[in-house]
Amino acid sequence: MKACVGWRRFLFCFPLIFILPYLFSGVLELHQNQTVGDAPKENTKKLDDQNSAVRDAPKKNSKKFDHLVLGPAAGEGLPNRLQCQGVKALNKTQFSNPSHVSGVGDGIAFVTVFTIYNNSLDTLVNRSSNLVTVGNASYSKSERSMAILNVFINFIQVRMPQSNIIILTDPESDLSVHQNRVTVHPIQGEYSRDKLMLQRIRSYITFLEIRLEKLSQELGRITHFIFTDSDIAVIDDLGQIFEMHQNFHLALTFRNNKEQPLNSGFIAVRGTRDGILRAKIFLQKVLEVYSSRYMNASRMLGDQFALAWVVKSHPSFNGKRFSKAQAFIKEIGGASVLFLPCATYNWTPPEGAGQFHGMPLDVKVVHFKGSRKRLMLEAWNFFSSSADISDMLCLILKSGRTKYDF
Ligand SMILES: *[C@@H]1O[C@H](CO)[C@@H](O)[C@H](O)[C@H]1NC(C)=O
Ligand SMILES: *[C@@H]1O[C@H](CO)[C@@H](O)[C@H](O)[C@H]1NC(C)=O
Ligand SMILES: *[C@@H]1O[C@H](CO)[C@@H](O)[C@H](O)[C@H]1NC(C)=O
Ligand SMILES: *[C@@H]1O[C@H](CO)[C@@H](O)[C@H](O)[C@H]1NC(C)=O
Ligand SMILES: *[C@@H]1O[C@H](CO)[C@@H](O)[C@H](O)[C@H]1NC(C)=O
Ligand SMILES: *[C@@H]1O[C@H](CO)[C@@H](O)[C@H](O)[C@H]1NC(C)=O
Repeated sequence: MKACVGWRRFLFCFPLIFILPYLFSGVLELHQNQTVGDAPKENTKKLDDQNSAVRDAPKKNSKKFDHLVLGPAAGEGLPNRLQCQGVKALNKTQFSNPSHVSGVGDGIAFVTVFTIYNNSLDTLVNRSSNLVTVGNASYSKSERSMAILNVFINFIQVRMPQSNIIILTDPESDLSVHQNRVTVHPIQGEYSRDKLMLQRIRSYITFLEIRLEKLSQELGRITHFIFTDSDIAVIDDLGQIFEMHQNFHLALTFRNNKEQPLNSGFIAVRGTRDGILRAKIFLQKVLEVYSSRYMNASRMLGDQFALAWVVKSHPSFNGKRFSKAQAFIKEIGGASVLFLPCATYNWTPPEGAGQFHGMPLDVKVVHFKGSRKRLMLEAWNFFSSSADISDMLCLILKSGRTKYDF
């Protein structure tokens, strides 16, 4: 369950007072000045033991780190998985160089729902006692949330410089982002923490309705939409999805997980009239199922349950297709739905338990769910200084088992 809360947990957990983690002494720690090179073998072993202990321990005892901690790179020796030596990647060639990504093809816009809450902790409690430091910057709780949004934007602008970013937000929220190719689009609604996931689908639907109206007035270049959580890093050109697969209306990402086979953090919509219309109808169905069946999970995960319900309840749908990480198209409720494997399009560092086979060489999106927000910022800092996306992926791969302070 906890594998899927994503940026929601980030938003929801911040208001809770959590104890600032102590620096733990001993071999477990690798400070940033030690990150280049492999962890010594005995450290690696202890890290594994430690992690399994943490996994079984009650949550309040989990150790959360306020600095990078590297462990072994999963997927070692497996073909088509990223191989690393320290934080040096041994495979480098698979990613398209953004300078070569042409502006021909159709336009892409990323759409994310983001809102800021007045955080009483920032003002009531001594602010400096709640600061976390990443690199040379310190952040209060709400500043962390903005920092993640900024890094989300940064990755897109570096990896897909031709694309646009649209932030759907509460008209009440005082969000100001002034950057080229970034638009803040207020949409009326109920953005309280308890209803945010429900509101998110509503905002998506409203946005698609507005696009539909605009489309009938506009001719010319098509813009495809990719609706995502804001705790993702775009690694490779996602425009390829729309070129490689010509016949889908919307795309979802799946994994081999019985209860939650679909992640709601990535939904691509073809920007044609038909694509937008059918995606809108599909999301309306998801919203209806959410409101009628899963309000007990309104705070989080309800959208994913509803998404899975809509897909699985389709009479001819075979759930076994989720067990193989291979894209496929299926007609559901009048829409052509492209199912893309999470392994490539929504790769998540493992959260403690579970099988973990490393990182595919063609990974296109990394999703920093749960206590991985620090890693997202650290990864960006690392990338900014090394300018090597593959090395950065090694950092993420090796650090992905660690639970961080935010
Ligand atoms: C990291 O570097 C700092 C200053 O450069 C040094 O004082 C510290 O001992 C180093 N940490 C470790 C664990 O080696
Ligand atoms: C990735 O790099 C490793 C180590 O150099 C190499 O053995 C492997 O064949 C490479 N994989 C691919 C698909 O090129
Ligand atoms: C947030 O707080 C500011 C003052 O600190 C206030 O002006 C604003 O109305 C508040 N916003 C919401 C949504 O409560
Ligand atoms: C706030 O906390 C910091 C360190 O925790 C301390 O140095 C500072 O004096 C405190 N300020 C106030 C106003 O209490
Ligand atoms: C702090 O980090 C920023 C961004 O990485 C960098 O431009 C700046 O030079 C750094 N400042 C110091 C004092 O290291
Ligand atoms: C919520 O309701 C659904 C459908 O009735 C049920 O399957 C699920 O177990 C419930 N979840 C919780 C957390 O109560």
